[in-house]
Amino acid sequence: MNVLVTGGAGYIGSHAVKALAEAGHIPVVLDTLEHGHAKAVGDAELILGNVLDHELVARVCRQFAIEAVMHFAAYIEVGESMAVPMKYYANNTMSALSLLKTMQESGIERFVFSSTAAVYGQPDAIPVPEDAPTRPVNVYGHSKLLVEQTCSWLARHTPFRYAALRYFNASGAHADGVIGEDHRPESHLIPLVLRTALGKREAVHIFGDDYDTSDGTCVRDYIHVWDLAKAHIRAMEYLADGGESGAFNLGTGNGYSVMEIVECARRVSGAPIPVKVMPRRAGDPASLVADPGRAERVFGWRAECSDLGSIVGSAWKWQSAHPDGYSLD
Ligand SMILES: NC(=O)c1ccc[n+]([C@@H]2O[C@H](COP(=O)([O-])OP(=O)(O)OC[C@H]3O[C@@H](n4cnc5c(N)ncnc54)[C@H](O)[C@@H]3O)[C@@H](O)[C@H]2O)c1
Repeated sequence: MNVLVTGGAGYIGSHAVKALAEAGHIPVVLDTLEHGHAKAVGDAELILGNVLDHELVARVCRQFAIEAVMHFAAYIEVGESMAVPMKYYANNTMSALSLLKTMQESGIERFVFSSTAAVYGQPDAIPVPEDAPTRPVNVYGHSKLLVEQTCSWLARHTPFRYAALRYFNASGAHADGVIGEDHRPESHLIPLVLRTALGKREAVHIFGDDYDTSDGTCVRDYIHVWDLAKAHIRAMEYLADGGESGAFNLGTGNGYSVMEIVECARRVSGAPIPVKVMPRRAGDPASLVADPGRAERVFGWRAECSDLGSIVGSAWKWQSAHPDGYSLD
């Protein structure tokens, strides 16, 4: 299929672009490069532009005979979403709605959406199934939930079909070591830990060590970015085969604590990696782990390379070969 990949120059989108090409599909990337990297796109077609540009998106859909859309483009910083909420409603919600309108006008009916575990907020029970209440505790999560809800209404009343993929903690890098995580600013734990291993940061800040978890630090479900990429292809092909719309958790069902990540990174890198315990951050649940069963039952996806050693090992391969991200290539 010819697939429009918005945000395809970003971390997760660039892995999906690679997976699409490997699976015989033709990815066409639309990205502003505000947070993305042209080098991450490889040989795929890269259109420089904004999802909010209705005319451009319509033209790209026509020119490349687009049959499905994977929508990764968004802002991703939870803290910033609370400080400047409209930036997030504009870029995450309004741009997605504009894209959905263009898709409808262009007769494109399949949509794979980058949603997030942040739609759940503070879950009542772990692991979290998809029918758990959606009560985001930040603007970022709400900006995504609004898109899911719009998709749900469209799917009920038009031929449109979608998969909202609720990622837990995306991590790791492609095994070739050529593409990986390069967020600016970086707020994700594993790259921060590995930058500390490289001596680029003094210590890993651990926000709270008195949670009700095995070692007192927060527990999260880390999912390898390559497993995420493959889930997008499964979901898109499932929709193309007439599959029903819905939301799907993408996680492993296993949680690791912050300290377990640090210890794994110490083993992989051989570096001491100092840590500094800081006060808890408001809104951080002690534990957030997916029930990933629905994606397996419905479209046959399960995580295959998300054991902690593969995640941290692949991230270290990328990070140690590119200590300044894409900039020095
Ligand atoms: N990284 C995670 O752990 C995680 C977890 C849950 C959900 N997500 C979601 O996955 C998606 C991708 O995340 P990522 O980590 O790859 O982020 P990223 O910042 O690396 O990639 C996003 C890309 O979208 C582009 N972009 C942003 N707004 C745009 C616009 N209006 N038009 C065109 N391009 C635009 C950026 O330039 C960037 O290349 C996001 O939607 C994010 O909310 C990420």
